[in-house]
Amino acid sequence: MTQNLFSLVGRVALVTGGNSGIGLAMARGLREAGAKVAIGGRRAARNAQALADLGGDGTDTAAFELDVTDETSVGATVQGVVARFGRLDILINNAGGVNRKSVMDLELGEWEQVLATNLTGPFLCTKHAARQMKAQGSGKIINISSTYGLTAPSKGLQVAYTASKHGVVGLTRVTAVELMPLGIQVNAIAPGYFFTEMTGELRGTSLEQSIIRRTPSGRLGETEQLVGTCLYLASSASDHVSGTVIPVDGGYLASDGLDRG
Ligand SMILES: NC(=O)c1ccc[n+]([C@@H]2O[C@H](COP(=O)([O-])OP(=O)(O)OC[C@H]3O[C@@H](n4cnc5c(N)ncnc54)[C@H](OP(=O)(O)O)[C@@H]3O)[C@@H](O)[C@H]2O)c1
Repeated sequence: MTQNLFSLVGRVALVTGGNSGIGLAMARGLREAGAKVAIGGRRAARNAQALADLGGDGTDTAAFELDVTDETSVGATVQGVVARFGRLDILINNAGGVNRKSVMDLELGEWEQVLATNLTGPFLCTKHAARQMKAQGSGKIINISSTYGLTAPSKGLQVAYTASKHGVVGLTRVTAVELMPLGIQVNAIAPGYFFTEMTGELRGTSLEQSIIRRTPSGRLGETEQLVGTCLYLASSASDHVSGTVIPVDGGYLASDGLDRG
């Protein structure tokens, strides 16, 4: 019984932003656990590259050109996954973007773009996926928030990012309450710092050293270190768990962060 708790054999997953970084690592992990995996992203070439990276004979993986800010695109992708694989059991709302300007410099359009990707996107994907999951009587939705969904970066900045990731926590809780009676669990992961394209510019900077000092593990995370939490929340192991936010941050949020020399 316990051996099968984490198995995803027969399940179908959609990972938004699955062509890069954290999304690709989770797509790989879901596939290794037995799921059929669809990835969605805007760049067709990156999608094709990620599909090749996922391997297999193409019968259990698929890529969709998806823009999470566009409801038509979201609806077509969810329908496409169901047409291809017959169902949708797991949605990973992972697509995201960042802008690191000061609140005093951030243009309205820049604010709206981050909110559209990081918060409206998960709303739209949840809306369309939950309809399918309701018909099936089960489903797992995993929202990728951030430690900045629970606290703010020192010195601020990342205004729209931090607000959107706090919004993702609220979206997680309210949809968890509505959807749990339908057999759908909604939870969030709050990653600390992981090197991906989004954070690549931090390499070799004083901020990287500061993150290392601030993090009890003494290091940034490897994207593969998110897979275990993802599999837990995607599988039967978490059937009685909904509305939670799990930090995967090397202990970052547990510490007061003061430099005591
Ligand atoms: N890296 C970290 O340290 C860290 C920490 C905490 C949270 N996170 C969160 O983890 C998630 C993944 O980030 P990452 O670090 O892996 O970044 P990444 O490597 O830059 O990947 C971002 C992904 O989002 C996709 N995307 C962006 N806008 C999209 C849109 N409108 N529609 C569909 N897909 C879109 C991108 O694909 P296309 O460009 O092809 O669309 C790409 O696949 C984000 O939500 C991020 O906020 C990251």
